[in-house]
Amino acid sequence: MQYDTLIRNAVIIDGSNTPGYRADVAIRNGRIERIGDLPDAGATEEIDAAGRVLAPGFIDVHTHDDTVVIRQPDMLPKLSQGVTTVIVGNCGISASPVSLKGNPPDPMNLLGTAAAFVYPRFSDYRAAVEAASTALNVAALVGHTALRSNHLDDLFRTATPDEIAAMREQLRDSLKVGALGLSTGLAYASALNASTDEVMQLTEELTAFGAVYTTHLRSEFAPVLEAMDEAFQIGRHAQAPVIISHLKCAGVGNWGRSPQLLSALEEAAKTHPVGCDCYPYAASSSTLDLKQVTNAHRITITWSTPHPEVSGRDLIDIAGEWKLSLEDAAKRLQPAGAVYYGMDEADVRRILAHPLSMVGSDGLPEDPFPHPRLWGAFPRVLGHFSRDVGLFPLHTAVHKMTGLSAARFGLKERGEIQEGYWADLVLFDPETVRDVADFNDPQRAAQGIDGVWVNGVLSYRTGQANGRRAGRFLAREGDLREGFH
Ligand code: ZN
Ligand code: CU
Repeated sequence: MQYDTLIRNAVIIDGSNTPGYRADVAIRNGRIERIGDLPDAGATEEIDAAGRVLAPGFIDVHTHDDTVVIRQPDMLPKLSQGVTTVIVGNCGISASPVSLKGNPPDPMNLLGTAAAFVYPRFSDYRAAVEAASTALNVAALVGHTALRSNHLDDLFRTATPDEIAAMREQLRDSLKVGALGLSTGLAYASALNASTDEVMQLTEELTAFGAVYTTHLRSEFAPVLEAMDEAFQIGRHAQAPVIISHLKCAGVGNWGRSPQLLSALEEAAKTHPVGCDCYPYAASSSTLDLKQVTNAHRITITWSTPHPEVSGRDLIDIAGEWKLSLEDAAKRLQPAGAVYYGMDEADVRRILAHPLSMVGSDGLPEDPFPHPRLWGAFPRVLGHFSRDVGLFPLHTAVHKMTGLSAARFGLKERGEIQEGYWADLVLFDPETVRDVADFNDPQRAAQGIDGVWVNGVLSYRTGQANGRRAGRFLAREGDLREGFH
């Protein structure tokens, strides 16, 4: 039998949370055609993968790659980690459906300047992704704040019945052409005044489609449990699965509460499809939020429109040099972005290790000095947390970034190595795989990633993208509630 590609002698970790086994994998026409002992098979390209692990390509369930997948379709920060699919449109912000009236409001500015927002309908965005022939598969959520920016003249209030009706219509149109669901970013000032009822009414559109509700909670600080309750209430109302974005205990006063958060999540999971994603770091990153300015922990500035020269420097040093309070310095830097070193490592580990959590990078591709999660999140889980710290076995690390993620977001025939599935694959060295990007030098490719295939096409090989880009737009398929058993 003649195949396109044969990967021989690899240890297959198939994404289903079971230990690896030795086999050959044969690929043809973009799919995994055979798995087994295939001594007589031939292929256009054969790779001896002895000593290596072959896993399903990683699914980055939490990204802000909406516009970068089109503008920089090689997607090196993700491809170099072994990521083969990104889910965009998280935290209430999405590139579509959006018609801006001026500059993008905070935090939509995380996705780019006004020039990047050229998709008034979700179908325009989908067509642009398809035309860009991006390196990775892309699936998309619709952002609540994006809808609000289309229809509200003032984002600092809740929506009127007419505005809700208009937002619902745009959400429904997007779901019809393949959006996965609705995301919110209720902690941000631009959505904080949206009432629970406003969100509930929007999520009523999700019910008929079996679409998902993802949320950057209204608070990740002291009232985080109340914010989780609100999310579950919304999800139950809509009969929609709930994914809590980047679950964490933020702020020094909140440290040590991860067992409470996780038991609330488990409790909700008994009667409703729920889960969460998280990134494997004890520092967060977003726009510079005056409410989060504190001297209780370090804050680094990642970008500033009026003061681009300070990116990468600590807020406390900038304030000292300017002879200003932290607060006043932060005001002068606006609009700006920051890294907040506001989490406790023990909480991060507990949440990452929990069976309901998936890995998502939350990387910010526009930042000139980004949080290292953009380049390092997935290899950090494999190398640092699984191999070096021993937080969980390698097959569990892989499951949290492949099989679990594909099930939760209904990505059919992906996320596992099975005959007939799409050949989204990553080959890596379990002894050497590691994140190299850190907070001092955040834009560095991971080590130990030997090969990445997207829809059967080898797109990255030992440190280099090869320019072949075989990603697809992945429209929602079926009822996402079915992926929570
Ligand atoms: Zn967020
Ligand atoms: Cu996010």
